[in-house]
Amino acid sequence: MPADYRGEEVAVSKHSNQVVGLDIGSTKISAVVGEVTPEGGLDIIGVGDRPARGLRKGVIVDIDSAVEAIVKVMKDAEVMAGVGVDGVYVGISGGQIAASPIEGSLELSTKEVTPRDVQQVMATTRSLTLAGNAQILHVLPVEFQLDGVGGIDNPTGMTGSKLGVWAQVITATGPAINTLLRVLDLAKVEARDIVAQPLATARAVLTEDEKNLGVVLIDIGGGSTDIAIYRSGTLKYVSGLMVGGNHITHDLAVGLRTPVAEAERLKKQYGCALLTLMNADDMVNVQVIGTKAIQPTPRKLLGEIIECRVEEIFALALRQMQESGVSEGLAAGVVITGGASIMPGMVEAAEVVFGLPVRHGLPLYISGLADLVNNPMYTTGVGLALYGCDQLLAAEAASPHHAGLRGALRRMAAWFQNFS
Ligand SMILES: Nc1ncnc2c1ncn2[C@@H]1O[C@H](COP(=O)(O)OP(=O)(O)OP(=O)(O)O)[C@@H](O)[C@H]1O
Ligand SMILES: [Mg+2]
Repeated sequence: MPADYRGEEVAVSKHSNQVVGLDIGSTKISAVVGEVTPEGGLDIIGVGDRPARGLRKGVIVDIDSAVEAIVKVMKDAEVMAGVGVDGVYVGISGGQIAASPIEGSLELSTKEVTPRDVQQVMATTRSLTLAGNAQILHVLPVEFQLDGVGGIDNPTGMTGSKLGVWAQVITATGPAINTLLRVLDLAKVEARDIVAQPLATARAVLTEDEKNLGVVLIDIGGGSTDIAIYRSGTLKYVSGLMVGGNHITHDLAVGLRTPVAEAERLKKQYGCALLTLMNADDMVNVQVIGTKAIQPTPRKLLGEIIECRVEEIFALALRQMQESGVSEGLAAGVVITGGASIMPGMVEAAEVVFGLPVRHGLPLYISGLADLVNNPMYTTGVGLALYGCDQLLAAEAASPHHAGLRGALRRMAAWFQNFS
């Protein structure tokens, strides 16, 4: 039996079709292990999940505690999946990233645009980016132009002499990336890629139709809220707010004079984000801080405190959207996800603030042990694994040897299906 990378013996076998999403959140750290299927889908095979240590508002503030928590989460995920993890796609929160537009171009040697030309114009554009102290995470094409004519989604196969592109460059600060890499290094976990969390979350919860029609995704976590706007199929805006569900808990602790753990329990058990949805006569027992005394309290008082903070979070998100200049024409409305979105009344409260249709976002596009992650708290972890799945498939498509292998696997899968 092989020893795992932390020196303990577990029944593991490293697997080339494996992808792992590691979500280092403010309140929980989760690892989602998936296996890319012969058909190009993602089977969930294991999950690790522990309370976060060493993080505040999505930012690592204590390296040792964060390392310890990550090691435990990875171990849990490996044991459940029964495979050793050899690299992760790790997220970086919306508050630590910035997006800016950039334009690049390429003189074409042949008249017809090839996939290689598209790759090259993206690489040229990436090299033009002056990120300063920041490091580039993603360069996402928004639209291509051929000989000055824009609005092209995919120029491959079209003819022209100059290929241009408008792209979004997503960056994160050097210190944020370095701290993240240091933590992973100490935990002996290899980062395959660092991914902007809103991008990963969007991959897991939004449909192509929503992205085409225009949609805003709001991921309300513990210490932060990430915002991403898609229109015409592409990411137009991304940002983060340093406020989330933990602030609701804190407000309850202060407002009801109760310990934080009790406030968290009350929030989860009796919380509601919209007062009008609450029964006027309900009472709840609240432990008074510093004593064993129990104070019967109108549930509406909880509701008033929660509603106030939730309204503030959504109003701040709306202001950022309006300042982004891309808040018009979001026909598919708003999708809310993240642990804090679980509270009853969140959809209704968001509808009041945004004046748009709102739905809950849960992980889509997965199979296998999908029920294990069917919770808004796992959308980022699943999205990171799906991002990894996309990367793996793209790398295989670019390599004739691997593409051949996957083709053979696909044929084998079809063969077994026919005979089973
Ligand atoms: N049933 C529930 N009702 C209300 N709030 C809940 C419920 N379940 C979880 N939460 C809240 O969700 C928050 C955690 O959400 P999540 O796991 O998405 O955060 P995170 O990813 O760790 O943090 P962040 O994204 O800010 O770094 C906490 O504030 C928690 O209290
Ligand atoms: Mg989160």
